[in-house]
Amino acid sequence: MPARRTMFIAALVALVLGIIMNSYHYSLEGARGLYVWHPLLALKILLFMGLVPISIAIVSLPLEKLAKKWPMLVMRWISMAASILVGAVSIALLAFLIIVPRIGSLEPARLELIDPAKGIHALGTQPAEASFSAGTTNKGAAQPGIALQQPQSAALQPAIIAQARSPLDMPLLRLSFSSDPHWGADTSNAQARTQILESIAQRKPDAFFMLGDTVETGNSATQWNFALSDLEALIPHVPVRPLLGNHDALFGGQYLYRKAFFPKGFSSDSGSPYYWSIDAGAATIVAVDLPWGTENFGARQRAWLEKTLAAADPHKPLIVLSHSYFYASGYDDPDFGSPWYDHYQNIPALVPLFEKYGVDLVISGHNHYQELLAHNGIAYAIVGSMGGIPDPQPSYRSPWSQWLAVSAFGWLDVEVLPGRLVLVFRDERGAERHRAELSY
Ligand SMILES: [Fe+2]
Repeated sequence: MPARRTMFIAALVALVLGIIMNSYHYSLEGARGLYVWHPLLALKILLFMGLVPISIAIVSLPLEKLAKKWPMLVMRWISMAASILVGAVSIALLAFLIIVPRIGSLEPARLELIDPAKGIHALGTQPAEASFSAGTTNKGAAQPGIALQQPQSAALQPAIIAQARSPLDMPLLRLSFSSDPHWGADTSNAQARTQILESIAQRKPDAFFMLGDTVETGNSATQWNFALSDLEALIPHVPVRPLLGNHDALFGGQYLYRKAFFPKGFSSDSGSPYYWSIDAGAATIVAVDLPWGTENFGARQRAWLEKTLAAADPHKPLIVLSHSYFYASGYDDPDFGSPWYDHYQNIPALVPLFEKYGVDLVISGHNHYQELLAHNGIAYAIVGSMGGIPDPQPSYRSPWSQWLAVSAFGWLDVEVLPGRLVLVFRDERGAERHRAELSY
């Protein structure tokens, strides 16, 4: 028969193990959002299971006064069994979170990873094609600073291609952006992903930013190896800088993200591998760490962001990158009801800083669309179109949306020219889908 003291010690050990396991998971970068945006019943059970054995033990106390001893004994045995179960589950999950990301080895890949501390160096001012100088600008756009253009005609005229560009038309910097390739997901489109990387390699931008969800399940070394071998095969000479997405962060995936994309010797101005600013010569690029929302946007990151935005050169365009978006069209999650559109956390927490310090362009993923929005003179681009399963037709269209492509794969090119940015949303083969221009 378990003594009262034994029962309480076992229940307390189970409680402590449960607290350690949950605290470890909660402390992992990007894990907190899971509790908010995907509130699975299993997660709630794991959070509170440590309280079960101790509660049963407490309930057994008044039963000691009964003449019959069996009710007390039954409760003591149930408490003991619950303690063993909770303790075992806690230890197993802790081991899962720590060991699984570390058991598979990552194959080293030869990539031109951008070290945030070293910045980006424009390779030259010659564009990959002359299409940016073609087309007509619609100056009557709905939002200040954003000019929508007519889609480029499918056939570029040779005369236009051969046209010489004036210094004002020569890009100072050529950047490419895409997000959410989801290597390892059966539902992702590997062909589109490959075509996008091949097309980007042909265009040779000064830098390519992948804004997160590189893999479907972050703790799987196999999935990271898929991603690394494709990137090595397809864009070995394109300077690339990935961000951490919510899927990359799953179940201890931060370890593999850092191993793959932020190796020893890399550093950043913030001291974090997850948020940093990059001196890109003609532009300032600032990445914030918002895998789901603001769950990891604490006082330290906020102070760094404010200082960084305030110190940015006002003569250069200021471009902010993030995984989760700010303004976006979307839909309500069919399982959890989470609103996947105009982000209720990110907008109030960061947009006032963007507006105060003159951010010009914000580029994000997370929603699997291509979209262009504008609000208070800032352009917001959604580029979650690198192969992850397309999101459904949005049931909510953001009032700030200017252009939206659903079920469409591709990426975004941004050319920095004197006084203006040219944005071109492309399909997976590089054909122009939509273009816009904004002044800075
Ligand atoms: Fe995604």
